[in-house]
Amino acid sequence: MKPSTSTGAAIRIRNLRKAFGSAVAVDDVSLDVEPGEFLALLGPSGSGKSTILMSIAGFESPTSGQILMDGVDCTHIAPHRRNVGMVFQNYTLFPHLSVLDNVAFPLKMRGLAKAERHAQAEQALKSVHLGGYGARMPHQLSGGQQQRVALARAIVYKPRLLLMDEPFSALDKKLRQEMRLETKRLHAELGLSVVFVTHDQEEALTMSDRVAVLKDGRLQQIGSAHDLYERPVNLFVAGFIGDMNFIPATFTGECVRLPGGEAWSVPPAAVVGELSPGSATVAIRPERLSLAANPGDLRLAGRVTDVIYSGADTLVLATLEDGTPIQARTSSLDRHRHRVGDAIALHCPTDAPLVYGAASA
Ligand SMILES: Nc1ncnc2c1ncn2[C@@H]1O[C@H](COP(=O)(O)OP(=O)(O)OP(=O)(O)O)[C@@H](O)[C@H]1O
Ligand SMILES: [Mg+2]
Repeated sequence: MKPSTSTGAAIRIRNLRKAFGSAVAVDDVSLDVEPGEFLALLGPSGSGKSTILMSIAGFESPTSGQILMDGVDCTHIAPHRRNVGMVFQNYTLFPHLSVLDNVAFPLKMRGLAKAERHAQAEQALKSVHLGGYGARMPHQLSGGQQQRVALARAIVYKPRLLLMDEPFSALDKKLRQEMRLETKRLHAELGLSVVFVTHDQEEALTMSDRVAVLKDGRLQQIGSAHDLYERPVNLFVAGFIGDMNFIPATFTGECVRLPGGEAWSVPPAAVVGELSPGSATVAIRPERLSLAANPGDLRLAGRVTDVIYSGADTLVLATLEDGTPIQARTSSLDRHRHRVGDAIALHCPTDAPLVYGAASA
């Protein structure tokens, strides 16, 4: 949630490109971070997330393009003059300095007197619930505590933008959850803008105001969790965010023919991008498919290949008549109705699927 009186920086990234020799790490990326916004950069390994973050921080110098902070072009400004806090994946604390001196370090670099920087560092440690830990050495802390120290060090000089590069990926699940909440709390309290890199889609969707999805250095889509889940702009985003069934189909110009011959007269709102007669892909979320038919539903006939019970719901795996695998997430109350090898019909309302033309990647 965005704080009402934000002191967060506004970031404008314009046509950012970064090449390492012939390899293009970031390719013509433009995006904005609104003041006080929490934006996640999400994408597979090698998609350019860290390179974008390092360019915002000033540790990477773009091949071309511009980065504006509050309207000021800072593309070529040195990192320490950008007033940006940064947290990396592997804590990167100074092992020979106490916790307090680690947190006070950026203040020392900024020329603050010892008493003042220790007071501010202690305050920052308190804000990450590590008040009283200042005298310890980093190796005397757990992984989660070390990452809190790194967070305290990144916010101690009150930056207006906080950059975080997979900050919790080295932590176990429970600590990761805790640090997510901690980070959200700090974000709300301090009113910072945050750019948060992750390849964990759950982390991205649950923590952020908006998510930017990247692939091969290119921005695919930027939007709220709802936008990305309900209306992915291409097949990559559709497959990357959540689970999705992809069904090869044919668009006749009038309707879409599904495997088994079912004809679907596509509502215009279901078409994503360009759709011309020929091959198409129909995308349906597993939770939109059900075993029970309602009048007017689309029907897909297949054969059950597996039934996986997972508590509240059960995943029914099947293959359609053309061999396409499909999965339906159904209520566990229905699970006894189907066995491997059974013929099955899966149903969904006609407005549940999306259809992508042949050009969508
Ligand atoms: N210093 C470098 N020299 C050469 N190539 C680089 C350099 N840094 C990054 N790259 C390349 O640029 C591309 C993007 O890298 P980047 O680190 O931004 O990806 P990422 O999305 O952060 O991936 P990961 O999730 O694995 O951290 C990759 O193909 C990578 O190999
Ligand atoms: Mg990275």
